Amino acid sequence: MNPTIEVLRKHRSIRKYQPIALPEEHIDAIIESAQMASTSSNVQAYTIIGVTDPAKKQELARLAGNQAYIEQCGLFLVFCADLHRLKEATELHGETFHQNTESFLVATVDATLAAQNAAVAAESLGYGICYIGGIRNNPQDVSVLLQLPQLTYPVFGMCVGVPDQEPSSRPRLPRHAVYHSDAYDKEKVTLGTQQYDDTMHEYYKERTNGKTLTTWSKGITDKYAKPGRGHIRPFLEGRGFRLE
Ligand SMILES: Cc1cc2nc3c(=O)[nH]c(=O)nc-3n(C[C@H](O)[C@H](O)[C@H](O)COP(=O)(O)O)c2cc1C
Repeated sequence: MNPTIEVLRKHRSIRKYQPIALPEEHIDAIIESAQMASTSSNVQAYTIIGVTDPAKKQELARLAGNQAYIEQCGLFLVFCADLHRLKEATELHGETFHQNTESFLVATVDATLAAQNAAVAAESLGYGICYIGGIRNNPQDVSVLLQLPQLTYPVFGMCVGVPDQEPSSRPRLPRHAVYHSDAYDKEKVTLGTQQYDDTMHEYYKERTNGKTLTTWSKGITDKYAKPGRGHIRPFLEGRGFRLE
């Protein structure tokens, strides 16, 4: 259709990398693309930490639940929501900085939009990427390792590097299940889940030579039938975020 849409449609997460560093001009292009993402009221409430130090990558891999590809990839980016800079800017003018759940959300969304621009830029240069939410398993240790100030937190990491595997792309929900005309249609959601369960059953079966016989909704159930990462709210409050 066009080269941008081609890159977007070809996306698949890469979990095995060749140990090759990225040239500086590619890192610049990826970060400049990240910075051009839309940002709420131009607040740009995020900071990106690029990690190439092998010891730090090894430690981050461990903190993220032993995800070895963090160590292998050429560049590991940590996207941080950042209200610290906004507080500093407000105080420059002698005012008190006010924050709440809304500003937390703004910073988290800003970091995420920048990250997805970085992902697409990296993929357009031929690199593979993988988001790493696993760093929120131990967010306090990650924050200490990266010397993050109060009012910042690591939202997720992202491996960027030269792929050492060629996985097929993962099927998505049927379009009618996620795109509704003019109003939310719950029936389409129900039907879409049923259809997607069939698709994913086949996908897992094929990928594992018949060993994994599960569905998408079963995976969701396993994840959401118990609370996840209950440490996040106290962690965020400890970093100075006011979730009120
Ligand atoms: C915020 C976020 C966090 C993620 N965290 C991890 C992670 O810690 N480890 C991992 O292997 N994949 C992680 N992923 C990748 C997803 O599993 C993957 O995007 C999803 O299964 C769809 O597959 P695809 O990217 O290959 O299309 C994460 C993705 C996102 C968006």
